[in-house]
Amino acid sequence: MANGQAGAIGERIRSVGDWIGARFPISSMWREHLSEYWAPKNFNFWYYFGSLALLMLVMQIVTGIFLTMNYKPSADEAFASVEYIMRDVPWGWLIRYMHAVGASFFFIVVYLHMFRGLMYGSYRKPRELVWILGMLIYLALMAEAFMGYLLPWGQMSYWGAQVIVSLFGAIPVIGDGLSEWIRGDYYISDITLNRFFSFHVIAVPLVLLALVVMHILALHEVGSNNPDGVEIKKHKDETGKPLDGIAFHPYYTVKDLVGVAVFAILFSAVVFFAPEFFGLFLEHANFEPADPLKTPEHIAPVWYFTPFYAILRAIPSKIGGVTLMGLAIVVLFLLPWLDRSPVRSIRYKGWIFRTAIAVFAVSFLALGYLGLKEASPTYVLLARIFTFLYFAFFVLMPFYSRWDKPKPAPDRVTYHHE
Ligand code: HEM
Repeated sequence: MANGQAGAIGERIRSVGDWIGARFPISSMWREHLSEYWAPKNFNFWYYFGSLALLMLVMQIVTGIFLTMNYKPSADEAFASVEYIMRDVPWGWLIRYMHAVGASFFFIVVYLHMFRGLMYGSYRKPRELVWILGMLIYLALMAEAFMGYLLPWGQMSYWGAQVIVSLFGAIPVIGDGLSEWIRGDYYISDITLNRFFSFHVIAVPLVLLALVVMHILALHEVGSNNPDGVEIKKHKDETGKPLDGIAFHPYYTVKDLVGVAVFAILFSAVVFFAPEFFGLFLEHANFEPADPLKTPEHIAPVWYFTPFYAILRAIPSKIGGVTLMGLAIVVLFLLPWLDRSPVRSIRYKGWIFRTAIAVFAVSFLALGYLGLKEASPTYVLLARIFTFLYFAFFVLMPFYSRWDKPKPAPDRVTYHHE
């Protein structure tokens, strides 16, 4: 192509760009959120998980759209339609496994993302709303996963939903009416399947998308935290750019691509070689069609719910268990106001706080394991101990975060490249 021709095409593209730019704030949005969003230069491994969560959200939506093309939301046809997707629809097995494995990976990514926030004190002023919006996302994600799990209409879909919906029955006075209202019937039925389908494919995803947009807008309003927990906006150059900040694009877009590549390898390994992941991602009982007359021997939710399920079973009374399970999530919302340490990041916190985070992490994992097991007396006892430790982390935080002896936090980030 002659130089003159290429120049003319370039000119054309620019003028289309200018035309759009005069009518839509594309370039100011690009600048504000990418090329001139100054992110701290010391992001580490833990900062991959925000963009990976975004990737998972998009992947679940795209694979979900293709699944919906062949899935039938009816009690008579749902199970067979999933088998049809797996066996007859071209590439259907891949789309279905990506979606099912994707649900578990979404939770892995989100749990690591939340743990990062916990370690670096990202929930603290001025990022309280970023955290609260994150918690609302987490709730919406749990609702999304729970309703999605009913759709294949397998034994665990059916009985899992039965157990969880009947928990609402523990609420005094309105409980029974409420669970009937949720199901739309006296038991989990075709009606329940239809409404869960409609929530799963449109209502909750819309809420999730809106919340994620708000989450990122709130973050960009206050700016990102970082592993040192220092506020980079305190030191700016004469143009207003933070001295410890670098442009999100191209620096972190490129860095995040490395995370995406590693993630894609791990994700593919599971999708292609162990999609059920030993019964953890797709439970074995779910390969049998739902049978309202046959209760499976052992009902357990999918792994990402089991820490809360273990808390529920640790308490002998149903209403007590349900309340405590709800409180286990409510306390997470309160985190920004429980931590009274003078420093943000775990790097500068003293041994008491560090031990508390470690005990909390072990308790959460232990509860997750116990929730997968049968409720034997030993396991229930252990679940009670770990439930106690889980709550102690939050309830005692206002005290130990004051007693703790932190190290002096630096004024500027401590990462220096060569
Ligand atoms: C669909 C789920 C989610 C998506 C797509 C998402 C997305 C993001 C993105 C892109 C960032 C900026 C990059 C980063 O800092 O890693 C971010 C930051 C953050 N997110 Fe999320 N997030 C999700 C869920 C959550 C949840 C469940 C929480 C906590 C309850 C949370 C809390 C935070 C916090 C505190 C930050 C600021 C971190 C910092 O600056 O150190 N997010 N999120």
